[in-house]
Amino acid sequence: MYCTRKICEDIYWVGSEDRRLALFENLFPIPRGVSYNAYLILDEKTALMDTVDRSVGGQLLENLAHLLHGRPLDYLVVDHMEPDHCATIGELALRYPQMQIVGNAKTIQMIRQFYDFDLEGRTHLVKEGDQLCLGAHTLQFVMAPMVHWPEVMLAYELKEKILFSADAFGTFGALNGNLFSDQVNFERDWLDDSRRYYTNIVGKYGPQVQAVLKKAAGLEINMICPLHGPIWRENLGWFLEKYDRWSRYEPEDRAVAVFYGSIYGHTENAANLLMNLLSEAGVKNIAAYDVSSTHVSHLIAEAWRCSHLVLAAPTYNMNLYPPMESFLRDMKALNLQNRTVAVIENGTWACASGKHMRGLLGEMKNMTVLENGVCLASSMKESQLDSMLQLRDALVASLNQA
Ligand code: FEO
Repeated sequence: MYCTRKICEDIYWVGSEDRRLALFENLFPIPRGVSYNAYLILDEKTALMDTVDRSVGGQLLENLAHLLHGRPLDYLVVDHMEPDHCATIGELALRYPQMQIVGNAKTIQMIRQFYDFDLEGRTHLVKEGDQLCLGAHTLQFVMAPMVHWPEVMLAYELKEKILFSADAFGTFGALNGNLFSDQVNFERDWLDDSRRYYTNIVGKYGPQVQAVLKKAAGLEINMICPLHGPIWRENLGWFLEKYDRWSRYEPEDRAVAVFYGSIYGHTENAANLLMNLLSEAGVKNIAAYDVSSTHVSHLIAEAWRCSHLVLAAPTYNMNLYPPMESFLRDMKALNLQNRTVAVIENGTWACASGKHMRGLLGEMKNMTVLENGVCLASSMKESQLDSMLQLRDALVASLNQA
């Protein structure tokens, strides 16, 4: 059965949801599922804005057949060539023989890389600023390289002032019928997953996101239609501000997040002690994560949110405890910067984890590592309380700076 939604005059959501997939990109847990959004414009010419993942391709085909009602599909606009959005291009090319595929030079190159069907005479190349008139509706193309792949482009629909934004402004989570962000409590129920999506998928490309935000600032936008998650038609400024902050690598909250690894509980005990001392000093809303049992995508999202990070980890094979090393390497790969970090290290016969954590942090941009650190030899001792208090005081002083 078709399952479509009208989002405004002549424009429909024709996507679908996946609540069966455990790992997005075979990497990121999505217990709330994910939506693959595609949009259909019915005008003198018809245009489909992107396709969907193969897992829900059948639903897209039913949706299209229902809304087109025997009309041809004139254009498929390919804003993004990652297979969660392009997997059904070949099937559509077969079903709609007059369909022209609209993309830039990189898009067409990637179609050839992924697929073997004949593109001869079926492509419509566009570049920055080009327009495609469908009748009453006209699409104008905005190149957005590396948000999140090099071929990515956005399409701005001039009549309704809709920005089809590709991966930008997307989020994990199935829609459950509430297609619009104003139909849910986004800040309470969606922001964490939205931050996790942004930081892990697009986080590395902050400068490129900044470039797109500058282009978007020159457009009057009534609605943002991303490829994942709710559509935005209210309170756009609030979400744009989040994107601006995330892509500048500025923390959202002046807050402490404690990330600890602990083999037998001794390093965790030291982390607990520090959290208690911080709380006694008036620090609120402390967050804590066991790096062994928390998926790294959540750790990354929290490192993006908080201004102050505490890293506590034991030495392992004369190096750093592997889950902490993995977290730090991910942080570096995703370009996280501008944080203040405190380090607690542990080692029973040769303590090396602190050196390795500081070394990895030193490879990142503008990470301030507090000089005061705590070095445990197996477990926290009362004789080390002073050094823990000094670390607490340094953290509090930094938190209280303007
Ligand atoms: Fe949802 Fe970069 O694909």
